[in-house]
Amino acid sequence: MKGVILAGGLGTRLYPLTKITNKHLLPVYDKPMIYYPLLTLVKAGIKDIMIITGGNNAGDFLRLLGNGNAFGLKNLQYSYQERELGIAHALKLAEHFVEGDLCMVLLGDNIVEDDLAPAVKEFEKKGEGAKVFLKEVENPCDYGVAVMEDNKIIKIIEKPESPPTNYAITGIYMYDSRVFQFIDSLKPSSRGEYEITDVNNLYIERGELEYEVLDGWWGDAGASIDALLESNIYVAKKIKRNPEHWWNFRQKNNGD
Ligand code: G1P
Repeated sequence: MKGVILAGGLGTRLYPLTKITNKHLLPVYDKPMIYYPLLTLVKAGIKDIMIITGGNNAGDFLRLLGNGNAFGLKNLQYSYQERELGIAHALKLAEHFVEGDLCMVLLGDNIVEDDLAPAVKEFEKKGEGAKVFLKEVENPCDYGVAVMEDNKIIKIIEKPESPPTNYAITGIYMYDSRVFQFIDSLKPSSRGEYEITDVNNLYIERGELEYEVLDGWWGDAGASIDALLESNIYVAKKIKRNPEHWWNFRQKNNGD
């Protein structure tokens, strides 16, 4: 299975921190935010990864992460989204990289405590369809929200005014290669973006969207200044209490 990390966007919710840099390069405790989704993929056993970014700081990702050797990656590639046209539009840039394989897609500002290795193995065994990961939250209006019936997701509503449940769709997705055809059929939403929620709803219509509820903590570090602060505090506490935790990774360089 291939890994795709989406790290574009304007990061306006973190302004002015993002006035001169990409939000995924901002610190979460002792390392840049982008390290966390990378470590999540490595932990899940995925070592063939593409990072898709955009804007003025794309070159900084290359300087920071290089060829991925320090993370034990087999292959690290990059692509560039020329306009901020949404998550699904960014994902489409990974089509040639994924090359008919399955892919796990992570939003670069999502900090995930769960080990996703079992879910990856299970999805590889199944070999088709799609899967999303849910988390119960206090502010579902800020997310894609799952409408449930008989323990099944029957629809996902993007940032609903009156959320039907408290289950947010996190920025962790697994797809078969049909995802790229589904993206081709999308129309831009009212906010002018190609929505990942529309892609997921196409899988739902075909009865092929599975879900899992995350056990561990989940942080959407890029959602707001407070969410960024909360992520910093949570990660700092976790690493200090448990130095063996896989989040405790620092890239060695000459200055260390
Ligand atoms: C995106 C998705 C949303 C999802 C969220 C998770 O929202 O559109 O469905 O719940 O990521 O982080 P965004 O943060 O891009 O507004």
